[in-house]
Amino acid sequence: MPEGGFGYIAGGAGDEWTLRENRAAFERKQIMPRVLTGKGPVDLSSQILGISISSPVVICPMGGQGLAHATAEAGMAMGAAASNTIMALSTVSTLSMEQVATASSGPKWFQLYLQADDGVNRDLLRRAKAAGYRAIVLTVDSTATGNREADARNNFVFPLPFGNLVRKGTGGDIHALNAKFALNINPRSIEFVRNESGLPVIVKGISHPDDALLAINAGAAAIQVSNHGGRQLDGSPATFTVLPAIAKAVDRKVPIILDSGVRRGQDVFKALAFGADVVGLGRAAYYGLALGGWKGVRSVLELLNKELSMVMQLAGAQTVEDIKRTALV
Ligand code: GLV
Repeated sequence: MPEGGFGYIAGGAGDEWTLRENRAAFERKQIMPRVLTGKGPVDLSSQILGISISSPVVICPMGGQGLAHATAEAGMAMGAAASNTIMALSTVSTLSMEQVATASSGPKWFQLYLQADDGVNRDLLRRAKAAGYRAIVLTVDSTATGNREADARNNFVFPLPFGNLVRKGTGGDIHALNAKFALNINPRSIEFVRNESGLPVIVKGISHPDDALLAINAGAAAIQVSNHGGRQLDGSPATFTVLPAIAKAVDRKVPIILDSGVRRGQDVFKALAFGADVVGLGRAAYYGLALGGWKGVRSVLELLNKELSMVMQLAGAQTVEDIKRTALV
């Protein structure tokens, strides 16, 4: 991968404290072995928003996957589908949502960076629904871009255009849409996205219980506890740290997805034991794509699920529901 692309993917904001803390927080809690419960064999099957998945792991939206592999988001979607899980497609993807839908019929969500121009928002939401995306992931933590110093050092500029943000003219000419990120996102934005799309809205980028409640009151179908992989507000707490308070406030009204820092089966187990229903996988899947296209993505998911099976077996949890009833120490 070229250095600029790698820096963009691997890097975080500022001093990358939050990037590191997302990992460190998992390490401060332990899983107690339970060896005489007679539980097993384990069953990883799970579901979220009416979609059955092979394990409690879904693929997060990530921008510009053409940086990693020629197949870009088509490869990611195929890898997710081969592993029976959901892929969320970023607004700022290399390929368009229609191209990705054609490449894979697996379950997909569309991530929206709300645009200042509601006409553009309506257009993106209408297209996502028409292309068969089954939920909208509304990112709410990005009304400013984090201070990504690797990108500055590398003079990194995204290979443009983004597939979703252009329109092909009749003569094959390409017109950019009037894409400008909205600078104010509030509960009305959630209502707007829900009404315009007619799809469930997952509100992604929540770190505070009060924001989770604001989102639910505005009609969110799920909450995604995320600090954008440490790429936005450096110095903000790890998602694993804030998870229990959010789970308490949400009180099972809607499912909770946790991302940022998930690298191992142990992390998946800990996140579920601490209040999440499903985890989102980001960079690990991106690296799998870089190394082996859709097979690389499938391989990463297989490894993670294999590890999770082993952890469940050794911790005496037979099902995903059993994990949620397990106390960490
Ligand atoms: C896009 O979502 C990014 O984090 O760069």
